[in-house]
Amino acid sequence: MNKTFQQNFLANQVAIVTGGATGICYGISLAYLKYGCKVLITSRKEEVLKQSCTTLAQESGNQNVAYFPCDVRKFEQVEAMVQFALDKWGRIDILVNGAAGNFLVPFEMMSVNAFRSVMEIDTFGTFHCCKAVVGKWMSKNGGVIINISTTLPHCGVALQSHAGTAKAGIDALTRHLAVELGPKKIRVVGIAPGAIEKSEGFKRLRMDDSSGFGEDFEKLLPLQRAGNNDDIAPWALFLASEMCKLHHWINNYS
Ligand code: COA
Repeated sequence: MNKTFQQNFLANQVAIVTGGATGICYGISLAYLKYGCKVLITSRKEEVLKQSCTTLAQESGNQNVAYFPCDVRKFEQVEAMVQFALDKWGRIDILVNGAAGNFLVPFEMMSVNAFRSVMEIDTFGTFHCCKAVVGKWMSKNGGVIINISTTLPHCGVALQSHAGTAKAGIDALTRHLAVELGPKKIRVVGIAPGAIEKSEGFKRLRMDDSSGFGEDFEKLLPLQRAGNNDDIAPWALFLASEMCKLHHWINNYS
């Protein structure tokens, strides 16, 4: 990574990373901090956030990391979280929507509330964060929104109809907002990781034979291995970087 990106290229920038206390989004938060960004992580569990803030600061050597407990299903809480970032650092350049909820459940066993819960965390959560950040800051100042999705809706996976549907909604929102907010210098982009080893979802899929993610899963993959956090963070760096400022193109042609 050090050879690809300029040292401290995110200095003076501020990122909000939802779900940043764990998994893929912990890796993204760490990468942003290493390149000088100020990072606010958010999720529901304060203890986990607190602990992750400590380790993120230690691992990155950057103390500009803070947390704000928030349930992304609740718009008022999201608005408070966004206001906290603005009060603390005065700007928001990057929003990474990574907060997600998931579990394995056969369609026929899934309760209506189970489906609704995942839709509300993933799809509504992403919408709420976009709405609050755009309304409070990016509409006038521009920025980049990176929505974390998954490959699930593109191939169909057993026991994941709720999560795949929720992520398909996020993909659609990403495309619509990219078109609508582009002229305001807001780049809305997405990353759709496949199976990421050690992630909660992958561990659970692996344990369930009917999911298709059993012991032989890696042999089906061209690279013979699942992804890891280090595979995803560089994409989040690239998408936030000068190299990816597609709005120059929009300026020239609008
Ligand atoms: N199988 C089937 N249904 C499940 C389930 C499972 N493993 N886990 C939760 N549900 C159902 C609940 O039964 C409930 O439906 P009901 O009211 O009809 O019984 C509904 O989903 C909501 O669950 P609940 O735990 O009350 O909601 P919550 O808002 O507190 O949490 C999750 C929802 C998804 C966050 C929670 O299930 C969870 O902690 N999941 C694991 C952690 C996780 O998702 N990590 C991220 C991985 S990407």
